[in-house]
Amino acid sequence: MTTPLPISFFPFLLLIPAICSTICHANSNLLCIQSEREALLKFKNDLIDPSNRLSSWVEGRDCCEWIGVFCQNSTGHVHQLHLASLLSAPDFNATPAEWEAYYNSLLGGKINPSLLELKHLSSLDLSNNNFSSIQIPKFSVCWRVLTYLNLSRARFQGAIPHSLGNLSKLQYLDLGGNYFDDLEQVTFKLPSLLELHLSGCGLHPSSISVNSSKSLVILDLSWNRFSPVPKWIFSLHGLVSIDLRYNDLEGPIPDYFGNFSFLEVLDLSGNSLDSSIPNSLYSLNRLQFLSLRGNQLQGTISSAIGNLSSITHLDLSYNYMLEGRLPTSLEYLCKLKEMDLSFNKIEGGISEILQSLSRYCLGSLESLDMSNNQLSGHLTDQLGQFKNLSYLSLAQNKISGPIPSSIGELSSLKFFDVSENQLNGTFPLSFGQLESLETLNFRNNLLEGVVLETHFSNLTRLTTLTASHNRLRFEPNSSWIPPFQCETIELGHWHLGPKFPQWLKFRKKLFVLDISNAGISGVMPTWFLNLPTQFEYLNLSFNKLTGGISYLNVKDIVDLRSNQFRGPLPRVFRNLQHLILSNNSFSGSLFELVCNSSSGELMEVLYIDKNLISGEIPDCWNHWQDLGLLDLGSNNLTGKIPPSLGHINLAVLNLRNNSMFGELPSTLQNSSLIMLDLSENHFNGSVPAWIGDNSSLLRIISLRSNNFDGHIPHKICDLLNLLILDLAHNNISGTIPKCFRKLYSMANRNNRENYMYVSEGLYLSALLVLKGRQDEYGATLGLVTSIDLSTNSLTGEIPKEIARLVELRSLNLSGNLLTGNIPDNIGNMKLMESLDLSMNQLNGEIPLSLSNLNFLNHFNVSYNNLTGQIPTSTQLQSFENFSYMGNHLCGPPLTKNCSTKDFSTDSENNGSSSEESKVNWLYVSIVLGFVMGFWGVVAPLFFIRPWRHAYYRKLDHNYAKLYVFWATMDI
Ligand SMILES: *[C@@H]1O[C@H](CO)[C@@H](O)[C@H](O)[C@H]1NC(C)=O
Ligand SMILES: *[C@@H]1O[C@H](CO)[C@@H](O)[C@H](O)[C@H]1NC(C)=O
Ligand SMILES: *[C@@H]1O[C@H](CO)[C@@H](O)[C@H](O)[C@H]1NC(C)=O
Repeated sequence: MTTPLPISFFPFLLLIPAICSTICHANSNLLCIQSEREALLKFKNDLIDPSNRLSSWVEGRDCCEWIGVFCQNSTGHVHQLHLASLLSAPDFNATPAEWEAYYNSLLGGKINPSLLELKHLSSLDLSNNNFSSIQIPKFSVCWRVLTYLNLSRARFQGAIPHSLGNLSKLQYLDLGGNYFDDLEQVTFKLPSLLELHLSGCGLHPSSISVNSSKSLVILDLSWNRFSPVPKWIFSLHGLVSIDLRYNDLEGPIPDYFGNFSFLEVLDLSGNSLDSSIPNSLYSLNRLQFLSLRGNQLQGTISSAIGNLSSITHLDLSYNYMLEGRLPTSLEYLCKLKEMDLSFNKIEGGISEILQSLSRYCLGSLESLDMSNNQLSGHLTDQLGQFKNLSYLSLAQNKISGPIPSSIGELSSLKFFDVSENQLNGTFPLSFGQLESLETLNFRNNLLEGVVLETHFSNLTRLTTLTASHNRLRFEPNSSWIPPFQCETIELGHWHLGPKFPQWLKFRKKLFVLDISNAGISGVMPTWFLNLPTQFEYLNLSFNKLTGGISYLNVKDIVDLRSNQFRGPLPRVFRNLQHLILSNNSFSGSLFELVCNSSSGELMEVLYIDKNLISGEIPDCWNHWQDLGLLDLGSNNLTGKIPPSLGHINLAVLNLRNNSMFGELPSTLQNSSLIMLDLSENHFNGSVPAWIGDNSSLLRIISLRSNNFDGHIPHKICDLLNLLILDLAHNNISGTIPKCFRKLYSMANRNNRENYMYVSEGLYLSALLVLKGRQDEYGATLGLVTSIDLSTNSLTGEIPKEIARLVELRSLNLSGNLLTGNIPDNIGNMKLMESLDLSMNQLNGEIPLSLSNLNFLNHFNVSYNNLTGQIPTSTQLQSFENFSYMGNHLCGPPLTKNCSTKDFSTDSENNGSSSEESKVNWLYVSIVLGFVMGFWGVVAPLFFIRPWRHAYYRKLDHNYAKLYVFWATMDI
């Protein structure tokens, strides 16, 4: 959190209009100069002024009285012209009418050179207008007295005129927010210049230089393309403020900055500086504001930071790599008001940091953000000493122990966030004293015990209460009326039930509500459905709520999954974006929801899987243009896939476990599917070749347990992103294509991209049958690679090219008619965890290379015609005999010994003797293997926990299609 410092050190310049209004009264008995009046009228003539702002500019009236015109009291000369737009741009939610009013208030058109006749002009402000597409006029040196020129955000284009560089009296120049695309080098030789603002002008290093401006104190070059820091800056020794935010600066922070002995403000945020922080910066003992936010700075923070004795605002956040402990010299920063070190890797105990900050200089600190670091230790009672602290975030660290009750002494505290730590103990009663508190977030900690009504009795200003994932119990008296009107209440995983929380009855402005997994049961009360508030986000998932729902008054996201709701699907707000009704007992048809043209237009995610929906999927998806994820799995749907489903750009289509049939419509080839799961239906026809169209993004295909026939199309090999291919239990014949070796993501150690793709919110969950077990895979899906072609009618040999798929972790070819040898090189697939070749007609020996598969934990070659000795390795001997039965194999783990004789004959003819050992192969133990593998796959999940919450934040509309969310793991 940073508050911008005053940008201008010279407020008097900006006060000119105010001062002027007094002066202008004195003007009333003056008449303006004839020639100047004419010049102004010519200037007006060339302007476009839709709202007639310049209506007072008429002939015959004293131009010193005209709006925006200010004359000198003694001479009558016009000396100031202030025509900045009066309205500021409306915000995002503005209506078209508001936008129109705004645009009409802007001046546009041309700038008549007559303006140059105002020879006494000392101040000109045309900022915030709309001179789109014209250049800044070539202001001549005629304006000898011009001291103030503000043309910012007026949509000038083209070049900066060279003549601007020679206005010798100019003290203030602001051209910010005009994008100059035609930049030849301009040299500013402005000996009187005090302030230069060139923010967001598209400038690059060779487009400007500033010379002989020794008087310059404020330099704003933010939001340009400077890289590196322009050299001429370092000759401007008098600078007090340097703003180079959001440029393209790279490499180390130049040591020269240490020479600016007057510097008070230095902002280098939003660049790509990647050194450690040089000690030279810490010698700037007048520095009040330092922001290095959002670079790639690394290393530790040196104890020399204690020399920044004037610093009030220090922002080193979002460098991600600043590490180590904070030096105790922090104790000398006695003026520090705001410190933001969030999103780094700073370690050490939080209590030591608080101790440093409180040792000598208690009282100044107002805002401390150390979130997303690696702080540990306990919060101690020192916390209560920071009486002026109004903002404290320690979220996402490893802080443990209880929240000290001295927290109640922070009487100024408005924002308190300790979410995602390991705080335990109870929720201290002293929270009840924090009368200023507006935001309280302690989500994801280990607090336990009972929360009482008195905890909240004085929290009248609370607007955000985010506390999900603690072990707290809250059962207020049914007549309790909360003293606050929260906009956000997240109490997921608290114990709130079994009755539906009555106190929610009095909420008027509640926008975000999460009471998921809270042990609430019974019929959802009708008053709740009729609350006078419109939710943006409503999560009631994982309770035992029942009853029907006719209408859901929620604007963005609804999650009702895993309850016992029944009856027809609810009607929804027309702009709803996510509707998750999975795992309930909703019944009836989809028709009303899908075909009613007043819903669906902005819907991105629709999950109705695991319900009792019946009938066909209606063919009216054309208006669902934003839908990215559709899961209707495990219902009673029949019929074919309607063609209009192919007209929307689905990323995920899941229809598994229904009774649907027919061929796949060719319209589906136009969608950008990432995951297609049609398993466990009665679909037929051949596997369509378009599935492998080059542009295809498909990562997961499951057509398991259908009636597909024909051959495996070679086009499948073009699926560069494919991670999971499951065609098991169909009637597919022909050979396994050799081109499988081209499956890029299975053949290349390049899965990081996939992994990131999935974990950054692309939330896929898939039911996979791996290692003989069906399981739901969520966040780690991107790490799973699997081919399952089992139980089909595939013939021919296993192509040895398949061994190129070195990233493959699971291969199941069992129950086919495959012949020939197991490819010798099969051991190249070193990551293989599960390999099942059972129930084919394979012959020859088990290749020696299999003993290289160190991760193998599920292995089955039973019921083939394999012969010879089982190769020795730690893995191969650890499987049960079951894995080898129905062959002519010998050696451990089988009890049958390989006599030399047997061995030699076996390799000649495979019809040789031997009943398999009779031991305990009935007792199938793949569970151990599974458990090992499962942890290998799922463990990384715990490292990406933050992403779990990404979903709960409002998703960027453009990306939302790619966001599938956590369907299973939030339990
Ligand atoms: C006229 O302006 C001068 C300076 O330009 C100032 O000193 C004087 O007070 C002003 N007179 C009035 C009547 O405002
Ligand atoms: C809190 O956790 C610590 C370990 O970090 C443990 O020693 C302590 O007993 C716990 N306190 C409570 C109240 O559970
Ligand atoms: C609420 O404020 C009153 C008055 O300031 C105080 O007496 C009371 O103890 C506070 N309640 C809690 C729970 O701290």
